[in-house]
This record gives sequence, C-alpha cells and structure tokens, in this order.
Amino acid sequence: MQSPDRPAPTPPAGDGAAAPKKVFIKAYGCQMNVYDAERMADALAPSGYAETQAIEDADLVILNTCHIREKAAEKVYSELGRVRELKQARAADGRDTAVVVAGCVAQAEGPEILRRAPAVDLVVGPQNYHRLPDLVRQAKSARVVDTEFPVEDKFDHLPRASREKVRARGVSAFLTVQEGCDKFCTFCVVPYTRGAEVSRPAVKILADARALAAAGVRELTLIGQNVNAYHGDGPDGGAWTLAKLFEAVAHIDGIARIRYSTSHPRDMDDELIAAHRDLPALAPYLHLPVQSGSDRILAAMNRKHTADDYRRIVERMRAARPDIALSSDFIVGFPGETDADFEETMRLVRDVDYASAFFFKYSARPGTPAATLADQVPEPVKSERLAALQTLLDSQRHAFNAATVGKTTDVLFERDGRHPGQIVGKTPWLQAVQVDAPRALIGEVAPVTITSRGSNSLFGSLVESSAAAA
Ligand code: 5AD
Ligand code: SF4
Repeated sequence: MQSPDRPAPTPPAGDGAAAPKKVFIKAYGCQMNVYDAERMADALAPSGYAETQAIEDADLVILNTCHIREKAAEKVYSELGRVRELKQARAADGRDTAVVVAGCVAQAEGPEILRRAPAVDLVVGPQNYHRLPDLVRQAKSARVVDTEFPVEDKFDHLPRASREKVRARGVSAFLTVQEGCDKFCTFCVVPYTRGAEVSRPAVKILADARALAAAGVRELTLIGQNVNAYHGDGPDGGAWTLAKLFEAVAHIDGIARIRYSTSHPRDMDDELIAAHRDLPALAPYLHLPVQSGSDRILAAMNRKHTADDYRRIVERMRAARPDIALSSDFIVGFPGETDADFEETMRLVRDVDYASAFFFKYSARPGTPAATLADQVPEPVKSERLAALQTLLDSQRHAFNAATVGKTTDVLFERDGRHPGQIVGKTPWLQAVQVDAPRALIGEVAPVTITSRGSNSLFGSLVESSAAAA
C-alpha cells in the first residue's frame, strides 16, 4: 500500500515533454460515481496525470457513467459525440486524446460502446479502476474492454490521495464501505452492473477514515448501494454492523459528523435506529427510499416490505431521534400502477412528511424483470403523476426549511460563499447556510442562528461567542 503523502512522480523531462499529462473526469449519477471518479484520479496520479476541469486541455477524458435510467445512459452517447469532435480538433493540432468510458454503462454495454462511439479507446467496469494506468497504456495500441468482476479487491490496489488533494476536495468526504446489491428490485440494474453485495473490512475503512481526518476532513459520508446491509469483517474476527462502524468512526479525532447513504428499509435494524439515539456525531438525517406507497406495487417491485412496514420504521426512528429529517426516492408509473396505487404513494408522503426527496418516472431498463411487464404506463400519465408528487414534496421541503428559521443550530463550514465575506456550511439536516463569517471558520463547526431562507439555501448569523473566537 502506498503512503498517503507520496507525491505524484515528476514526469520525464526533456524535449518539451515536461508538462504533466492532464486527465478530465466527469461523473454522472450517484455519490458512488463521484467517489469512484476521485479514486480514478488518485489511481492515475502516480503515472503523472494531473486533474483538469477543462476538457479541451485533457490528454485523457474519462466519463464515469450511470445506467440507472435510460436518460442517464443516453446522455453519455451525446457527450461522446462532443468528445469525438474535440478529439479530432486536438488531433489536427498534433495532440493525442485517449477516451475512456467507465462506470455502469461500461459494465452493462461493454463492446457495444466501441461500436456506437468510434472515439472511445477504453471501456472499463466499476470493479477494475485499480487497473486504469495499465489499461490506458494498453489502449494506446488497441481498443480495450475490461468489464470482468476480478477476484482481487480493487480497494487493496487503489492508492490514497495526497493530503493536499484531500484538503483541496474539502472538509466533507465520501468513503465507500460497501458495494453492490443482492436485493434485485425488479426495476433496477444495480445488481447487474455493480454485482453482488460486498462489504469492505472494518480495519481498512477505519484506516481510510483516519487518513481523511488527518488531512482535515470533518464530515464523512459512508456510502454503499445498500449501505445499511453492511457486514464487514471486524478487527475482533466477527462481522461488524454499520452501527458498530459508526461508533468506531465517531472516535476518530477530527471527525465531527457522520452520514450514510443509501439504505434499504429491510435492513433498518434496532441497532442502527439506536445509533441515531446514542451517537451525537451521527447526523439526524436518513435517506430511506420507499419507491412507492402501494403494497401491490411494492410487491411487484420485489421490495419485500409494505407501506406500513415503512411507516413503522419512520415512527421508531422519530422515537429514537425526534429531530430526524427524512428523505426518500420515489418511482412513478411502474408497470401496472393505477391511479389508486399512486394515491397510496401520495398518502404515504403526507403521513411521513419529508425534508427532501428524489422522484423519477419509471424507465424500463433492458435485462430487468419489470422491463418486459405488459402493463407499461403511458408517458403522459407518468408526467402527470410526477408533477403532482413533486408539488407535494416541494411544499414539504419548503415547510421543513421554513421551520428552521429562527432556530440556532451547529453548522459545519465547508467553503467560500456566494458573496465576498460569506462562507457556506451545512446544518445537521443537510441544508446549505450562507453566513457572513471569517474564512478561518472553514472546517469548523459553529452555532448559527438561521435568519431567513432563499430558494436553495438558508441564511444565518454566527452566534456571538464563535464570531469572537474566530
Ligand atoms: N426507473 C426509474 N427510477 C429508477 N431508479 C432505479 N431504477 C429505476 C428505473 N428503472 C431510482 C430508484 C432508486 C434511485 C437511485 O433511482 O428510486 O432508489
Ligand atoms: Fe437497486 Fe436499491 Fe433495489 Fe438494490 S435495493 S436493486 S440498488 S433499488
């Protein structure tokens, strides 16, 4: 394993080749893809690649793709059209550009991508990022597809980011603790693209968490496609639960806040609920996708829980941590969904009262069981239901934000704000707050009184004592 502080080797000098090679990485979709994009940058750094935000300067372009809905997958092909033009323009200037498609579209479509997108040199699945430097070299002579599920653990081979890089990425970081999914919801591609559920050993996660904290990270979001199914090997030989992992992470010097995502209702056990009562570092926020409020549709989705099971979890959660904010994912227009089924979803939303949520029209994904169901819902019906759901969820979000105005709460400051003299941070409930405060407070947690709200963020003022201490 590489030392976290090892600098990237200097590229060979001489005949004008001294400029470092540049890599541009674009992540689509979920938090896991954002995290993976950073790991790819870390994997390429020792080969002399520096990250750039300007695609036209890049010697290596990586699109880290999402396959969850048709729109997400199609976006990749239109982006590849633009990348092809860029590659041709650079070639006219005598500059090579290697183009890589990574992520879940790569895993699902493999060689089909080479056929549809002539600019692509390499297609690499989510389990093979540790091999990127080698694969990029190989792709110089012939186009490569690598979508195997290797036996080795990629995390054992991925170098850690330097402290400087971690610091530059900010005080809030993601950390993968679990990957893959065994739930097989009938609409979802994840079990096929990300493979079976695997938990990383606790010792490795804690070592990563300590390195991140030592580099200045104050908030860790533990991520996984099914994060609350976590059951990694513990240092004591037994399997550790997510709650146990939280407890160990909470003891790491510097870690002020812990978040986690995404959870499944089936795995919300008593220990995890109790952790929300007992661990002050665990943020009072739970993203718990329900997808639908109709038991008939939940069964057809193979969710293995009912709407009332979900209501009971919410009740227990609120009993353990009364100020918990809830969030969810919803799908409208799943095959066979009637007006009455949709009304059940609306009823569940009214019962739960969400702080925020994501909502999608059902998108038939090739290879998933629901894609071949006869009773597909017409597009206009999906649009109508989505609009109604959105109106309700938006009003709940606005009401939640309005209820914070006047309260004093801890804010973790993350970066410069919109205007000079302002910095921006997050409340425990994941709301962005703009505050007039010194930059020295970035990376600190300080009490803030919320004074008003805008459409996307809150405004607040520092409580006197922290202003004086800064
Ligand atoms: N169509 C629409 N939404 C989907 N999701 C997953 N698969 C599909 C699909 N085929 C949504 C679910 C999931 C979120 C990440 O994406 O709500 O929780
Ligand atoms: Fe997909 Fe989540 Fe269902 Fe797994 S639990 S199949 S990731 S929706």
